[in-house]
Amino acid sequence: MAKKILIMDTILRDAHQSHAATRMTTEQMIPILGQLDEIGYYSLEGWGGATFDSCMRYLNEDPWERLRTLKKYLKKTPIQMLLRGQNLLGYRNYADDLVDKVVEKSIENGIGVVRVFDALNDPRNIESSMRAIKKYGAGGKCVCEAAISYTTSPVHTLDYFVKLAKTYENMGADNICVKDMANLLLPFEAFELVTALKKELLPETKLHLHTHNTTGTGDMVNLMAIKAGVDIVDTALSPLANGTSQPATEPLVATLQGTEYDTGIDLKKLIPIAAHFKKVAADLEKDGALNPKVRQVDVNTLIYQVPGGMLSNLMNQLKKAGKEEKLSEVLAEVPNVRKDCGYPPLVTPSSQIVGTQAVMNIVMGERYKMVTKETKDLFAGKYGQLPMPVNEEIAEKVLKGDKRISYRPADDLEPEYDKLKEEVVAKGYYTQEEDVLSYASFPEVAENFFKWRKAKNEGVDSDMAKSGVYPV
Ligand code: CO
Repeated sequence: MAKKILIMDTILRDAHQSHAATRMTTEQMIPILGQLDEIGYYSLEGWGGATFDSCMRYLNEDPWERLRTLKKYLKKTPIQMLLRGQNLLGYRNYADDLVDKVVEKSIENGIGVVRVFDALNDPRNIESSMRAIKKYGAGGKCVCEAAISYTTSPVHTLDYFVKLAKTYENMGADNICVKDMANLLLPFEAFELVTALKKELLPETKLHLHTHNTTGTGDMVNLMAIKAGVDIVDTALSPLANGTSQPATEPLVATLQGTEYDTGIDLKKLIPIAAHFKKVAADLEKDGALNPKVRQVDVNTLIYQVPGGMLSNLMNQLKKAGKEEKLSEVLAEVPNVRKDCGYPPLVTPSSQIVGTQAVMNIVMGERYKMVTKETKDLFAGKYGQLPMPVNEEIAEKVLKGDKRISYRPADDLEPEYDKLKEEVVAKGYYTQEEDVLSYASFPEVAENFFKWRKAKNEGVDSDMAKSGVYPV
């Protein structure tokens, strides 16, 4: 029985986030969007993740304007975004009214698939986003894709993932995604995981796999997942594929061509599009945004079981402390810290929290002699529920009597949209409701961007605007 494999291409988001610090501009995308729209992708990932921050901080672009531009040219292909649950597009927990507004405006401006996830896989941290996606995306306007942060640990078993996927399905997810941001998932494990998930999920629920090619296993992971029955996989067009990015689109399309899994994508149509992005990649490299090293295979993750980005952070922290020789001790300490705090997946922000604490434990010569505020918050339940109970003895040492919470972290937050809107209006920057959401996500960055935009629009201080002094 034929089973057409669906492809999401990440060329407009994760590919350049992974390879070039999210520096691709809307200008660099526009000339090729019409052709991309004709390929027949399931979706094109083009928004969310770091694009929001990068647009305003480095590119003098309104992220909402980018979305509207993408929508103008992508008439057939749904635009997919990545949303960090209650953290939305920023790094703190937001109140529910803001979650609702961000989702409303994202869909209104053209998003057709929202992938929402929580770093800890705490369903309470994505329930508010999911409710909003179902509300504003009703009637086939937007697909609700709930993503599982994939990780390895003694508690992250097949049963654990199946149970979590069923929970998300029961909460209303149309798609379930396995999000393997660190390329920790190995091909045969992918086969087992996809088999187990497909067996338990409803037939109408699509299973979507997101991996990277950091450790060089990405293509094999995708192929094994396809053999096991996955519905959608993520790839990136070749000029910004592989290494820390997704496996390349063209080889997978060619591999499946003429088989029962044929994607229906015409390989020849991809060639001129890839040629366009080859030039874009070269320009990004010339500007220093893309270091060709990101394309190499890095087997460290396979050996140390920590994501590539986390490993380089650990090395930097040790270098600063003048203790580079302690790396192997720190790497041995990482799983211990992880166990103490209930095995969080190693993704932002928990990878930084666990990594920094492991460095402190080794450098100070005594475990938890010094702790960060983030470590305290993690133990206190302020990031959400951890996969396993924490080590009580350690928790007491870390928290020193500080309050712990077992309820949903965002339950503590008062509505904040109206207050933020007042601030933006009072400062004279308000042009659209979306500005409030940009300001909520990155207050300083957004303010610098608004200042630049105002100067440009009003022709005041035009030298300043042109010189690129704003935003800093
Ligand atoms: Co990714």
